[in-house]
Amino acid sequence: ADGDAEKGESVFKKCRACHEVGDDAKNKVGPRLNDLFGRTAGTVEDFKYSSAMQEAGEGELIWTEETVGAYLADPRGYIPKNRMAFPGLKKPEEVADVIAYLKQYSSQ
Ligand code: HEM
Repeated sequence: ADGDAEKGESVFKKCRACHEVGDDAKNKVGPRLNDLFGRTAGTVEDFKYSSAMQEAGEGELIWTEETVGAYLADPRGYIPKNRMAFPGLKKPEEVADVIAYLKQYSSQ
């Protein structure tokens, strides 16, 4: 809610190896992150998710500030067996800042 989008742009460097966001963003190792907020987990077209992520979406996991924050703080703890090879962001400010950054590319 109170993250800093400019700082979040720099936090997003940790994500860029695998994710794109913005105009013409493509799926890479991870799905593109445009229009993330309000979207059901595991539903970007043409991206092959793990069964764990698809099942999270079937279980009605919707990406919100709260759920994205919980996922980024502890990806494996929040969705066991999902395939994002990322340990998570240790600092709550980094989580809030990267969320503020991603929100710029999301209609919600
Ligand atoms: C999935 C965000 C870092 C690879 C996701 C999802 C989000 C996300 C929100 C779920 C997307 C959806 O349901 O459509 C981020 C952010 C990162 C980050 C903000 C940095 C802070 C990384 C890194 C990698 C990666 C470094 C690669 C080493 C993936 C993969 C998935 C995924 C493969 C799909 C997981 C699955 O199907 O189980 N990421 N990610 N991400 N991410 Fe990341």
